[in-house]
Amino acid sequence: MHFLIPAAGSGSRMKAGKNKLLIDLEGESLIYWTLKSVFSASSINWVGIIGQPKDKELLLNSAKEFADIVHWINGGETRQQSVFNGLKELPKDAEKVLIHDGARCLINPELIDQCAKQLDENTAVILATKVTDTIKIVDNEGFIKETPDRNYLWAAQTPQGFLVDRLKKAHSMAIDKNWNVTDDASLFEMLDWKVKIIEGTYSNIKITSPLDLKIAKLFVKKP
Ligand code: C5P
Repeated sequence: MHFLIPAAGSGSRMKAGKNKLLIDLEGESLIYWTLKSVFSASSINWVGIIGQPKDKELLLNSAKEFADIVHWINGGETRQQSVFNGLKELPKDAEKVLIHDGARCLINPELIDQCAKQLDENTAVILATKVTDTIKIVDNEGFIKETPDRNYLWAAQTPQGFLVDRLKKAHSMAIDKNWNVTDDASLFEMLDWKVKIIEGTYSNIKITSPLDLKIAKLFVKKP
């Protein structure tokens, strides 16, 4: 199974002044913790990191243990472009791929394997959790327009897994049609292609703000 890690964001919401994946969490960088989990998953045998060229040395140096076994791919201006670059760099024989945000450094290796296994029976899968808050759709003036039924609401996470041919096709069509999305499953939805939900864990947070880092400290597994 092939695995791509988009890691080319600017991390502006974290206000760290550097790629947030370089931030320290219990003595190691966030990208180190992500890679540690990925390489602990038994289903994964090829890993690519998609990052900005200026961050290459810093990111690889901050996770030295894995620097020689990961494949480096230059990222794009948006997450969508970064993933597209990653897809182009997969080995020719790659049939299935999991895409996982570098900022979800608490991912459990068993959940990675579960996503990989579910791809035997599905063309697309994503990890997600049931939403516990009541969600409001709000207009531009800040007034509530609608309250969707919570029973049908799930919060999307990564990994998101796909048959490579299908995902490449979806990305190419998105370029043609000028679709801009924040995750890969959205492209499948726009094309009316089925995506299977796999129930994940609430601890698989995407580190976005300083508060997330405090939460991550509670969950990170030191050797
Ligand atoms: O911006 P957001 O937090 O949704 O980004 C999710 C992931 O996509 C992050 O791991 C980030 O590094 C990555 N990303 C990327 N290329 C970009 C923007 C974001 O690989 N141009």
